[in-house]
Amino acid sequence: MASANDNRVIIFDTTLRDGEQSPGASMTLDEKLRVANALAELKVDVIEAGFAIASNGDFQSVNEIAKQVKGPTICSLARAAKGDIERAAEALEPAENKRIHTFISTSPLHMKYKLQMEPERVLEKVIESVTLARKFTDDVEWSAEDGSRTEHDFLCRCVEAAINAGATTINIPDTVGYTTPTEYADLMTMLFNRVPNIDKAILSVHCHNDLGMAVANSISAVNAGARQIECTINGLGERAGNAALEEIVMAINTRNDAFPFTTGIDSTKIMNASRLVSAVSGFVVQPNKAIVGANAFAHESGIHQDGFLKNSETYEIMKPESIGLNKSSLVMGKHSGRHAFREKLKELGFADLGDNAIEDAFARFKDLADKKKEVYDDDIVALVDDGMRDN
Ligand code: KIV
Ligand code: ZN
Repeated sequence: MASANDNRVIIFDTTLRDGEQSPGASMTLDEKLRVANALAELKVDVIEAGFAIASNGDFQSVNEIAKQVKGPTICSLARAAKGDIERAAEALEPAENKRIHTFISTSPLHMKYKLQMEPERVLEKVIESVTLARKFTDDVEWSAEDGSRTEHDFLCRCVEAAINAGATTINIPDTVGYTTPTEYADLMTMLFNRVPNIDKAILSVHCHNDLGMAVANSISAVNAGARQIECTINGLGERAGNAALEEIVMAINTRNDAFPFTTGIDSTKIMNASRLVSAVSGFVVQPNKAIVGANAFAHESGIHQDGFLKNSETYEIMKPESIGLNKSSLVMGKHSGRHAFREKLKELGFADLGDNAIEDAFARFKDLADKKKEVYDDDIVALVDDGMRDN
């Protein structure tokens, strides 16, 4: 088991549960199985396959993933209710390694308005739900929903009680994406200092991206001792989404000097998983999205292209191959310069063109680039051919 003293961070993927909760992102059983297999290839540690009680379809997908997908631990979400936990256990029955993830809200706002329950009753439910879940598996995760807005004394009592009842992972979600990186680290430190049995469980974080801080918050929590991050491919998830798996993994890999942790992820499978999730969820990845956006390894400006062609590290901090992309791309547009243009001509089979012809073609290219957002390979072939005919 990972602990705060070792540097291995558990990657818990919730694309198929929290990700699928994005309005309009629902997936068919077949699509979920394909995503689960891609996650297994990526070597995530835990796949949260769904919320078994939510619908018969959700039950079936958790159950089929539990039957068919080998490698990661398969998990189902369950509220702090007998029916939920029993249904999760039933769906997970065929899994080699299974986890029940049970949760209840602990913040004053959620307890008063959503649950309409007194804190003492919530505490009882924490104990009842974890105790029941432990009857089906010894891998039980307990989450304090809206944990980041929970009063500290009460959070400590709930966490201690959940661990005593048998929870092996304690997850503190930032359900509404409200927390800052410093606050998250302080929250983790507070739990390590005040909960007497905290070392008997893995501390986990689950960050939403409402203020764009989900990845920073997750890594900050790990810096303070958390050893599981809950995340999704492409940051898919409720509202502004969840922490993006690919950003967390590549931040740890690329800045290992600043974040001295390891994951079990095979980063070369990132692009494959990203494209699949985008296709089946129908959520297009924005071009400038970190790591997996179409422009993440593309260069258009002449200065950048020239530097990149001399040494890729001038403008790239990661290798495209490290996420499973063949190569970076030089996009030909009005900002492109001669160096990239010459390289493009070579790539298109015009290696023998003389200097005058290249200059002529470059001038035509610049004229065209002023009229178009991007000049495609076919455009360049046509303008070189035109030049040859004119001469
Ligand atoms: O955001 C959240 O609080 C959740 C919990 C159910 C873990 O998704
Ligand atoms: Zn969530």
